[in-house]
Order: sequence, then C-alpha cells, then structure tokens
Amino acid sequence: MEVVLVLILGLFHTFVLHLLTGTPEFPKFEETRWDDGKRCNRDDDSKIHPFRVSVSQQDIEDIHLRLNISRPSMPPLQDTQHRYGLNPLLLRDILGIIRTQYNFTERQEFLNQYPQFTTKIQGLIVHFLHVKPRNPANLPVYPLLLLHGWPSSVREFYEMIPTLTTEVNRSFLFELVIPSLVALVFWLLMRRLYHETFYVHGSDWGALVATDMATLYPDSVLGLHSNFCFSLRYISLVKIALGSWFPSLFVKEVEFRDKLYPLSSLARFYLAESGYLHIQGTKPDTIGMALDNSLEGLLAFILEKVSVGSNKHNIHLPGAGLDKFSLTALLDTILFYYWLPKTATTAARFYAENLNIKAFKEGLHNIPMNKKVPCGCVFFEYEFLYQPKSILTDKFVNLVHYTTYKSVGHFAALERSDILVEDIASFVSKTIT
Ligand SMILES: *[C@@H]1O[C@H](CO)[C@@H](O)[C@H](O)[C@H]1NC(C)=O
Ligand SMILES: *[C@@H]1O[C@H](CO)[C@@H](O)[C@H](O)[C@H]1NC(C)=O
Ligand SMILES: *[C@@H]1O[C@H](CO)[C@@H](O)[C@H](O)[C@H]1NC(C)=O
Repeated sequence: MEVVLVLILGLFHTFVLHLLTGTPEFPKFEETRWDDGKRCNRDDDSKIHPFRVSVSQQDIEDIHLRLNISRPSMPPLQDTQHRYGLNPLLLRDILGIIRTQYNFTERQEFLNQYPQFTTKIQGLIVHFLHVKPRNPANLPVYPLLLLHGWPSSVREFYEMIPTLTTEVNRSFLFELVIPSLVALVFWLLMRRLYHETFYVHGSDWGALVATDMATLYPDSVLGLHSNFCFSLRYISLVKIALGSWFPSLFVKEVEFRDKLYPLSSLARFYLAESGYLHIQGTKPDTIGMALDNSLEGLLAFILEKVSVGSNKHNIHLPGAGLDKFSLTALLDTILFYYWLPKTATTAARFYAENLNIKAFKEGLHNIPMNKKVPCGCVFFEYEFLYQPKSILTDKFVNLVHYTTYKSVGHFAALERSDILVEDIASFVSKTIT
C-alpha cells in the first residue's frame, strides 16, 4: 500500500515538476504584415531612407494656440500632492515653461545631431538612429541595439551615445542602432543593416522585446543586457509564492526583500499605479483620442508615470520627483515623439496587442533562454519590479552579470546615463573571451 502511495506521489511530483520547469515548444509566428499587404509594395521594402525630425512653424503655433485657449484645470484637493495623479499646479508651471522657455528650433537641432533613418519592415515604417563610432585606434566594434519602452523614446539614450561610441578607457567601441519601439521586427532591422550578430540592451517594453529576441534568436544575440529583468516562467511564479512564507529561501539580498514581500503590499502598489496599463491594454483608442487632442492631458498622463516609475514615494513630494531629470529631456520625448507625430494612440495599442490572451498563450515567457546567450541584469533600487538572482536565472539561464545599485529608478538612462553605460560596458567585457 505504502509503495503504491509513494509511487503515485513520485509520479505526481514528476508531473508537476515537468509542468513547472519543462520547456514548452517554440510558438510559431506567422509573418505579420502591418500594411494592406499588397505585393507590389514589397520592392520598396528594403530601402533605407535618411530622416530628420522636423517641426514646422505651424506646429509650434498650434501648440501655443492650444495653450492659450485651454480651460484652467480643476484645482487640486488640499494635501493630495500627486496621489490623485499629477498635481495641476505642477502641470501649470510646466506648461509655462513650454510657453516661454522651450525652444523648438534648438531642440530640433539637438535631436538631429545623430544620423536617423526610416525603413519599412513587414509593412511597418521603422524609425531608428544609426550611430557609428569614431575609431582612430581601430578598436573592435560591437553592434549594440538599444530598445526603449513606454512612455519613452529614442531620446532616452541620447546622453549615452557619446560615451558608447568614443574611446573612454575601453578596449572596444559600439556601433549603435536605436529604433523607435514598435514590435519584434528589430531582428530583421539588424540583418538589414548587415549585423548578423549583435548585443542588445532594453528598458521597460524594450527589455521585454529584447528578452523575446534573445529567446527566439540565440544565434544572433551576442549578449542581452537589461535594467528591467524579470522571469514570468511558471516555476518562478511558484518560487515567488513560496517565498512569501520563506523569503530567505530565494531572496538573499536582505536589503531588497521589501521590494517583493509582503506580496500584499506589492499587489496594493500595482493596483494603485497600473490604471494606465489597464486602460491602454483594453481601450487604447478611447484614451488615445483624449491624449492626441489635449497636450495638457498627454503631459499629465506621461509625467505622472515618469514620476511614480522613478520612485513610488514621489507621489508625496511637491515636485513629484521630476527634478531628478532634465525637464527638457522629458519634454523632448513628449513633444517630439508623442505630441507632434501623434503617437499616443498607437503607443497605447502596443499594450492592447501585447497584453492579451493570445500573446500569453504563445508562451514565449515560459521558455528559458538558450544558455549560449550571456545575460546581464542591473537592478536599480527604486525600480518597481524586483526579482532576486535565484528567480531571474529561471529565464536568464546564463546570467553572467548581475549588479544592484542604491538609488535610481525605472528610467535609468535618463536619470543616470553614466552608470548605465558603465554597466553595459562591464557586462560586454565579461562576454568577450
Ligand atoms: C498666445 O498668447 C500670447 C499672450 O497672450 C500671445 O502673445 C500669442 O500671440 C498667442 N499665441 C497664439 C498662437 O495665439
Ligand atoms: C532658439 O534656438 C535657435 C537655434 O539655436 C536660436 O537661433 C534662437 O535665437 C532661439 N530662440 C530664442 C527665442 O531663444
Ligand atoms: C582613463 O584612465 C586614466 C588612467 O587610468 C584616468 O586618469 C582617466 O581619468 C580615465 N578617463 C576616463 C574618461 O575615465
């Protein structure tokens, strides 16, 4: 009798273990086309066109007119600071800066200082920066793909470009490709630029895209670096749940234990701060119409997320913690990459396209990465998502580099580009044999 029981338990144990740790099959992706798929257009597909950011006098006047005729916001309730969203009084100050100080012509010159291009991939027009290094010493050059997320833009990486592409006590340099985030077409983009193999760094959604890319194309990705690493493998979720009773089992870094536990306070935080994700993931066109038609609404929507993403306690500060950033850099992104090209709706649709049952069923998140891809994760103290190394390795199997930093939040490239550059370079040097 006992033998049978042990056998049954043993089988059950094996079954559950297989379910949790087994590798599901690779999903099959059909070629998605984002235009009407007319074959006759395909000849155009592989051409690469130079591109420059351009703002017309009419666009600028339109912005000023809107600011002139906008209705005053409802005054904030007393002592709410930013708990109900970005405080209207702070927003009023920022609108004043746009009206009187933000110089569109000067910003346009700044943004156009690096070569930019567009190309059509699967019917989708992809915009990207392509910055080759100055290399008088003839050092080895590695292609590096930098992927941003929401609510960000290629602007996020501008401060990192000079040090990645010039010699600063490093034995190698990077050739940078920095596309505006769209979808998993970046692998094709790199091939179109004759990079069969390359490094990739991602933040926010860019990190998810980079992770998927490394999972799907282990032969192309020389190394994956990210400041937003997490594993959604089922085994990881079980570990996280088990850890709520025995935190020391998985979280060795005592100082970060409260980033994950108790799960109830984490859940409370996500519930309070993820409304943007739900509305964009379910009704992107509704919110898109509001954001594409109100510059103030767009500013409030994005700056609120930048604030809380950088540190969850920022909602209690008068300046929402935005003083840690260059306001000009934030306005560059919002004005040049969201307002002027009217991308709020398509950016919101990105959530709807990726946060649905179909995307989840594809199961890519549950497939561990091939161990031939070296991975580097950097965790910044105020990042809103933390997983210890023991859980990250479920997904990032070959985690050769793991760093933690005191301070700094989700938008690390904007907050401390120097630390991020150092971390990427230090990771890459570990992967060169
Ligand atoms: C906006 O208002 C300012 C000050 O009242 C005025 O000088 C400016 O011409 C207005 N701009 C537009 C585009 O209406
Ligand atoms: C804006 O910047 C341009 C280019 O840098 C400069 O020529 C112009 O004088 C600036 N305008 C103002 C109002 O400062
Ligand atoms: C490069 O290294 C030299 C000598 O170690 C040091 O003096 C210099 O400050 C370093 N430069 C940078 C930009 O890190």
